[in-house]
Amino acid sequence: MSDQPNAPAGPDLAGGIPLTSLADGAMLAGHVGDDAVLLARVGEEIFAVGATCTHYGGPLAEGIMDGAQVRCPWHHACFSLRTGDVVRTPALRPIPRWEVERRDDRIFVGKKIEPRDPELGGSPAPVAGRAKAPASVVIVGAGAAGSAAADTLRREGYTGPIILLDGDTDAPYDRPNLSKDYLAGNAPEEWIPLRSADAYREHGIELRRGPRATGIDVGAKRLTLSDGSSLSYDALLIATGATPARLPGPSGNVPRVHYLRTLADSRRIIAAASKAKTAVVIGASVIGLEVAASLRARGLEVHVVAPEQRPLERVLGPELGGFVRKVHEEHGVVFHLGRTAGTIDDRSVTLDDGTVLGAYLVVAGVGVRADLELATAAGVAEGRGVPVNECL
Ligand SMILES: Cc1cc2nc3c(=O)[nH]c(=O)nc-3n(C[C@H](O)[C@H](O)[C@H](O)COP(=O)(O)OP(=O)(O)OC[C@H]3O[C@@H](n4cnc5c(N)ncnc54)[C@H](O)[C@@H]3O)c2cc1C
Ligand code: FES
Repeated sequence: MSDQPNAPAGPDLAGGIPLTSLADGAMLAGHVGDDAVLLARVGEEIFAVGATCTHYGGPLAEGIMDGAQVRCPWHHACFSLRTGDVVRTPALRPIPRWEVERRDDRIFVGKKIEPRDPELGGSPAPVAGRAKAPASVVIVGAGAAGSAAADTLRREGYTGPIILLDGDTDAPYDRPNLSKDYLAGNAPEEWIPLRSADAYREHGIELRRGPRATGIDVGAKRLTLSDGSSLSYDALLIATGATPARLPGPSGNVPRVHYLRTLADSRRIIAAASKAKTAVVIGASVIGLEVAASLRARGLEVHVVAPEQRPLERVLGPELGGFVRKVHEEHGVVFHLGRTAGTIDDRSVTLDDGTVLGAYLVVAGVGVRADLELATAAGVAEGRGVPVNECL
């Protein structure tokens, strides 16, 4: 993740600004010394927080204010204006705060208040008065959900052992970037990990990568792992996320067709792109379109094949879908809409209307399915998901 601050702009907030220059519900970007500071007003309350998102440095002043929260314009992380804490990922670290004083209808920003526990997303909550805590917690899946759950347990004062288990040896990492800047070649791989095993260790969270959980003995509260070992728990959180849907029929298992979910998948696509001149992307979903844009950024000729008439039409409607198409076409993407991929061989993809697209690289982005293997073993899966209550 980037630590580069935005260059401070706007007024010197330590020198004060008129109260009238900050309307209720408005934000204003300024600075205190070298720090970019965001001033925000909610009724009579005025907050001063860091103006730079701790995810990839998004300018929070250009985001959306929602009550006493600010949402980053880039990937929609949310921060509390009151505490600076992360209230919604993908950012994991809180933003700093500053003291604010009102004097003679002017606002002055004073001393900086650093977050108390930046690695856990914000201030630990008081522990007193908690319900009886489990003796140990095992979290299966170190994706965004599992990682945030481990952080939250510690932040909320849980002191027992936490094991974060993931079958992916690279986990945990910033999955959304795999189809964006990383795939486009604009983000180095050092930006991709969310946090090191050492950083987890410092907070008493044991990160175990490699073995997958393959079964659960619910009565004995024990997981079996793919390396033959087992793991006992008092409380278990299944946060196994999703796996990419495969193309229907024989095309689904053609080794040359790439699916994108993991860092290893993204590395494989980058390696194949370095040898390819043309790519066919099957699916005009968000991920398909991001892959198309990233491969265009790498200089490949890119064809997108999808059955709908406009990209993202089902989600955004025809008007915005048409706009999205135009933007991608302006960047050189060629669409084959209302079409499906028929056969895929070593060098080409043949569409259902007989069009043959020559391509060494084929990427399918045709949706995801919840990974229910473990939830099914635990007897909590139903249909294509897991029933939850209003607390989850
Ligand atoms: C390329 C790409 C781009 C995306 N871009 C965006 C975006 O811009 N904005 C957005 O909001 N969302 C985006 N998403 C979706 C977002 O990544 C997911 O919503 C998010 O990852 C879900 O988090 P999760 O923790 O529930 O699951 P996951 O991130 O899928 O994590 C689940 C983890 O569980 C592990 N696991 C599964 N089964 C087992 C097992 N049996 N034993 C051990 N470990 C197991 C997996 O290895 C995995 O690491 C994107 C997804 C992809 C793939
Ligand atoms: S830069 Fe703010 S959420 Fe990514």
